[in-house]
Amino acid sequence: MTDISRGGAEGRRPLTNRQGHPVYDNQNQRTVGPRGPATLENYQFLEKISHFDRERIPERVVHARGVTTYGFFEAYGRVGDEPIERYTRAKLFQQAGKRTEVAVRFSTVIGGRDSAETARDPRGFAIKFYTEDGNWDLVGNNLAVFFIRDAIKFPDVIHALKPDPVTFRQEPNRIFDFMSQTPESMHMLVNLFSPRGIPADYRHMQGFGVNTYKWVNQQGETHLVKYHWLPKQGVRSMTQADAAAVQALDLGHATRDLMQAIERGEYPEWELVVQLMTDDEHTELDFDPLDDTKVWPENDFPPMPVGRLVLNRNVDNFFAENEQISFGTGVLVDGLDFSDDKMLVGRTFSYSDTQRYRVGPNYLQLPVNQAKSDIRTNQRDGQMTFYVDTAGESPHINYEPSLIDGLHEAEYPTVDEQGPVISGRLTRKRIPRTNDYKQAGQRYLLMEQWERDDLVHNFVANLSQCDRRIQERMVWHLLLVEDDLGLRVGEGLGIGPQDVAHLEPLPKQTLTEEDRARLANLG
Ligand code: HEM
Repeated sequence: MTDISRGGAEGRRPLTNRQGHPVYDNQNQRTVGPRGPATLENYQFLEKISHFDRERIPERVVHARGVTTYGFFEAYGRVGDEPIERYTRAKLFQQAGKRTEVAVRFSTVIGGRDSAETARDPRGFAIKFYTEDGNWDLVGNNLAVFFIRDAIKFPDVIHALKPDPVTFRQEPNRIFDFMSQTPESMHMLVNLFSPRGIPADYRHMQGFGVNTYKWVNQQGETHLVKYHWLPKQGVRSMTQADAAAVQALDLGHATRDLMQAIERGEYPEWELVVQLMTDDEHTELDFDPLDDTKVWPENDFPPMPVGRLVLNRNVDNFFAENEQISFGTGVLVDGLDFSDDKMLVGRTFSYSDTQRYRVGPNYLQLPVNQAKSDIRTNQRDGQMTFYVDTAGESPHINYEPSLIDGLHEAEYPTVDEQGPVISGRLTRKRIPRTNDYKQAGQRYLLMEQWERDDLVHNFVANLSQCDRRIQERMVWHLLLVEDDLGLRVGEGLGIGPQDVAHLEPLPKQTLTEEDRARLANLG
């Protein structure tokens, strides 16, 4: 149980309103005579009630339920056996033992802010590093891949996963309607409907940056990079039955588990490992390194440790520090960069856009979001301006350039214009190497038997609630993923390969030679 007994009778100070006026009576509003009526100039009452009326801000459109804790990231100064400076000049990674303060928010995705933490749902794993060069946010999930590969589809996938707009119930029929028309989602679904789709709690799960980023070294050379967090506590998951038993007693077991572990001094820890690739298209691979529905095979791109993350402090106030914390994929520091991953680019617009609406245009002035390095801008005003950023000596000069005073542009850390030369026709096209089934099948084959059984059980339980057309198309996809998976799910639904052999590939779908061979076998 959380200890709420801090404090004591001594040192208790009188209540005031937000104008600093003492509150002499907090039990009775001001009225004409003891029985009323109330008067309109009742400032203390109106301030209290009208502030209360505005206590809620819009919850996050996704990842509404979550918990934030603090700690540090400690660099190893190396990436695997090599000095890290060969790959990135980001200062937080350079010296072994260097610590950077962090805030980490874990979350579920689809439910509202009071929903059950036992949901079958990806878990968010978002880290804000307060570095000397400003903030770096690494906004990831507990599963290594995602449902879609182009940001333009994000509102659709979320609408399908969120409650039905009429019944307000999460409907498998809507979810699998969308997924069955979205072959790139199969790899994610094979993960999500396995036990990994319900982590036992937040301390026993992995984290993945999912999207592909870049590292930039002092010479301006770039590498593609993927980030992974490995829990020193180990990975634990729940079956659907385990989750039902936990949910019957507690809707917020994962938040409770994390906060209580930290209170007990059992600080959870993760190791950050990265995979690196030279910065090009890698046409030798059967997938695109910028495709977030794919993992990079560990044999070819070995994960290499770069540091560790320790969480050791809970928030003082859930609203100020958890509801208002704001992460975004655009928040990078020198030595780290974006790739052309079409999800990453879309995400980078979306986060700060929603935060200007959800928290307010000055959300970066809030302590939990504020960089701990110097902030010097000419940005002024807007709702809830809390302070004026440092500028020059003269408060009059809030523009640049100026002969009189004010801020000037920073020097580039190295040579300007190191980025790639880009040329190409403006177009709307899928990436060429979609290869939607192969890695999903490999994932299935890597699972232990009980995980496969749970996956099949969960697919059947959900697909049984779907229209026959949707069931057939899903069985068709799962047969392309892996025979055994498609056959077992089909058996649970009473659908054999011969029942789906007539289905044509989806419009614009590209199949590999291997996919075609599997299709030919269906009849
Ligand atoms: C939260 C958009 C894909 C991880 C959010 C929020 C939006 C959003 C609008 C709410 C932010 C807020 O209110 O502060 C998108 C879009 C995506 C996308 C447009 C695809 C184009 C992803 C992917 C991941 C991810 C692939 C995992 C790598 C998260 C996490 C949060 C979040 C962890 C919660 C951050 C927090 O704890 O405050 N996303 N997202 N999102 N997203 Fe995404």
